[in-house]
Amino acid sequence: MENILDRYKKVEISDVKVWFEAAKVSDFPIDGGSCIKYKDKQIAVFNFAREDKWYACQNLCPHKMEMVLSRGMIGDDKGVPKVACPLHKKTFSLENGENLNGDMDAIATYPVKIESDVVYVGFTE
Ligand code: FES
Repeated sequence: MENILDRYKKVEISDVKVWFEAAKVSDFPIDGGSCIKYKDKQIAVFNFAREDKWYACQNLCPHKMEMVLSRGMIGDDKGVPKVACPLHKKTFSLENGENLNGDMDAIATYPVKIESDVVYVGFTE
């Protein structure tokens, strides 16, 4: 059986081959997240407005394999932007996906760029 986690691999900006047009900036909540779909992946995209930054990561929380991270609270942990899963509050760095309050494997993160008020997420294929 396919392990759904295998769909999600961290993408570095230097590896981006496809900039997927996700939605308009105004479609995303300020200081919050929304879920977008790209091929077989659900991606959580965060408008970290108070830092004027954008982040994207897998929507799948690896703790109980729930598609919930886009609904998580964002904040920072000693200067590292993070998302807290809304179910059991596991937290992950939005910069590199690291699990900040446990020993789970890192989640996949994806580059985001904004051009002409449109949000793009970078993928390798
Ligand atoms: S499902 Fe995300 S912390 Fe439990």
